[in-house]
Amino acid sequence: MSEFPSSRLPQARRELRSWYRQVSRPLPWRQSHDPYRVWISEIMLQQTTVAAVVPYFHRFLERFPTVDALAAAEEGEVLKLWEGLGYYSRARNLRRAAQVIVAEHRRAFPETVEELQTLPGIGRYTAGAIVSFAHNKPAPIVEANTLRLYSRLLGLEEDPRSAAGQKRLWEFAALWPAGQNPGEVNQALMELGATLCTPQSPRCEECPLAAVCEARRMGRQAEIPPAARRPELTELAEVAVVVQQGPQYLLMQRLPGERWAGLWDFLRFDEREAADEGLPAYLRRRFGIETEGHADFLRLTHGVTRYRICLRGVHCEWRRGTASEEERPFQWVSLDALAETPLPVTGRKLANALAKTMAGPLRLQGDSHKKKPRKPSRGG
Ligand code: ADE
Repeated sequence: MSEFPSSRLPQARRELRSWYRQVSRPLPWRQSHDPYRVWISEIMLQQTTVAAVVPYFHRFLERFPTVDALAAAEEGEVLKLWEGLGYYSRARNLRRAAQVIVAEHRRAFPETVEELQTLPGIGRYTAGAIVSFAHNKPAPIVEANTLRLYSRLLGLEEDPRSAAGQKRLWEFAALWPAGQNPGEVNQALMELGATLCTPQSPRCEECPLAAVCEARRMGRQAEIPPAARRPELTELAEVAVVVQQGPQYLLMQRLPGERWAGLWDFLRFDEREAADEGLPAYLRRRFGIETEGHADFLRLTHGVTRYRICLRGVHCEWRRGTASEEERPFQWVSLDALAETPLPVTGRKLANALAKTMAGPLRLQGDSHKKKPRKPSRGG
């Protein structure tokens, strides 16, 4: 890695901004400098693509247009608007941070990286994004797109995710946002990383910074930065039991510390837990309910973070007993209420399958060992 030619930085910055003004995508959060909107968009964009985020962003802002509205919201409603985006701690933290801003900052968004980082869910990158995009003050940003871009500009040899690599990248990031419009410089860097300086086949011919790019000079764009190692996927075999009582279905809430904390779900557990005693006895022992007519009705697989969940959906009828388990809340909901309840993606798929069988209780084969996925059948 050679030293970046800092004498060429002002010219490079001008070329970068001029490029950005010609090609930038008109993304909805770029239309405003409102720190609230910047914050919501940046949290949503963590681990999630721009295309997936846009509709969520509009719905969220429509329902919670201000930090006050978010601070006053029920957690369930915030989670419902987040349903399908994943990494639900982001949504819980947004609401908690909104409450801190209202209670301790008199509704005004903090304007420094240090203060912002004291809020739940706001790390160094998000703080830098809010300070530079909303308040237009110089603050460095390093996220997935700029990490790749800076690594290539520097010809960084070390792992950009190591402590030494991170130190170098954050120092380098701080050189860029300067002049009249530091926020725009950061937006432009991120846009360049997202659109031209892509992981595979970067489009160097179109890049406004090609002349100062060390990786390009060395012809090593394909190797820099090295791809992050993907974590091994862990397979989880789970059962979700849909317990029905007339027109209502039993849900349990996921507890703090569990996957999908705060969301609701059908009675779900690791398939091995009930393997020895069988489902009816397990449901009686763990939740205190008597059930009958157990029948498989859906199988699906779904990737969540580093897990691959193979879910077996089983339907049964409630007979007696009040569901309970230590601290865990339960509720009975109708199909209409189910549509308004925040569920994990696999729970929503089960709920959709139920909604398709609106014509009365599910009539399913009582064989719960069939391998093939089974759709619930209509019928009397
Ligand atoms: N990824 C993270 N933040 C972004 C932003 N502000 N615009 C586009 N992509 C992003």
